[in-house]
Amino acid sequence: MDRGNIYVSKKNLEHNLDYLRNITSKELCVVVKANAYGHDIGWTVRTAISSGVNWFAVAAIDEAILVRSISDDIRILLLSEPTSTELEKLAFYNIDTTVYNQKFIEDLGNTKDSFKVHLKIDTGMHRLGCSPEKFEALYTKILSFKNLSLEGVCTHFPVADTDTEQTSQSIEIFKKTLSNVNTDNLLVHADNSASTTYNNEKIFNMTRVGLSAYGYSVSPVSTGDKLKPVMEIKTRISNIQHRKKGEAVSYGKAHTLEKDSLIATAPIGYGDGYPWNSFPEGKVIVNNQFCKLIGRVTMDQILFDVSNLEIEIDDEVTVLGTSLDKSLSISIKDIAEWNNTIEWEILTNIKDNRLIRIEIDN
Ligand SMILES: Cc1ncc(COP(=O)(O)O)c(C=O)c1O
Repeated sequence: MDRGNIYVSKKNLEHNLDYLRNITSKELCVVVKANAYGHDIGWTVRTAISSGVNWFAVAAIDEAILVRSISDDIRILLLSEPTSTELEKLAFYNIDTTVYNQKFIEDLGNTKDSFKVHLKIDTGMHRLGCSPEKFEALYTKILSFKNLSLEGVCTHFPVADTDTEQTSQSIEIFKKTLSNVNTDNLLVHADNSASTTYNNEKIFNMTRVGLSAYGYSVSPVSTGDKLKPVMEIKTRISNIQHRKKGEAVSYGKAHTLEKDSLIATAPIGYGDGYPWNSFPEGKVIVNNQFCKLIGRVTMDQILFDVSNLEIEIDDEVTVLGTSLDKSLSISIKDIAEWNNTIEWEILTNIKDNRLIRIEIDN
């Protein structure tokens, strides 16, 4: 190990997909945008295909093209309308696209290529999607073009991870909006990781899962320990130093030592996606013990207190994941809390340009 390894567990990803398939009894569409939430889009798609997944969702055409290079047999859903200059690529790479603007639908309809589309309704997120009032007109417009195939209708929930009541309201708006049109043979999809755990509406037949596929629960309804984190990050001790009471380490000298201390350094930093705000609350695990960060996170290094430990250069440091004896762990949720942010942001920032990504079987 030079600087550190990102371990991705095939078994855990497969386990999560099986679990989600069982609790939803729906087609799974695995969300692999932003490098599969930092897990490596190629690895994730290949692993998911081998465990029976047929649908993948992305945010960008280039992500879709990358996914298409892995298999011609799977379906790929672009979650937003691209610019009209990208239409050839959409058709060439056989990418399903989400639509919600009349102008974009007309642009698609007025080309010679064929397109598969999913009409998105805004049921409260107010980010993308047509209003419920405009839905029927757009639905009819899509059907009027011979080269457009309406494959699905969808929406997206703004507070699925915090508010089941409001999510139920969105579901009601969605159902009411669809009530006057024929949805037979269409994919009807709205659920994300959180709502998947409590929404049992029969009308939905596909669910778009991101975070939960990677092993993290964000729902107000607990999934216990059913989901298993796919990623672990380990680095190594690269330097050990005795520092005196009253001294301070790292940029800004942000923390003054209250006693003589043994301080270790490990070669990982915000340049690898380990976030700067992890200090002062953050910790790592060495020799099955938590060690507090003891100075600011830098681009390439972190420092932590190992005063009570017998350690050597190259000893393993767990930044994310479980200790060797499995008694302690640091989760993405922990790192997100230290940084006052959300799990999605931490994961999508993890970079493998200096850390080595390794697939593990367990
Ligand atoms: C439209 C859409 N659907 C589904 C998801 C998956 O969300 P989650 O990671 O919470 O499962 C996302 C994630 O950002 C999204 O933007």
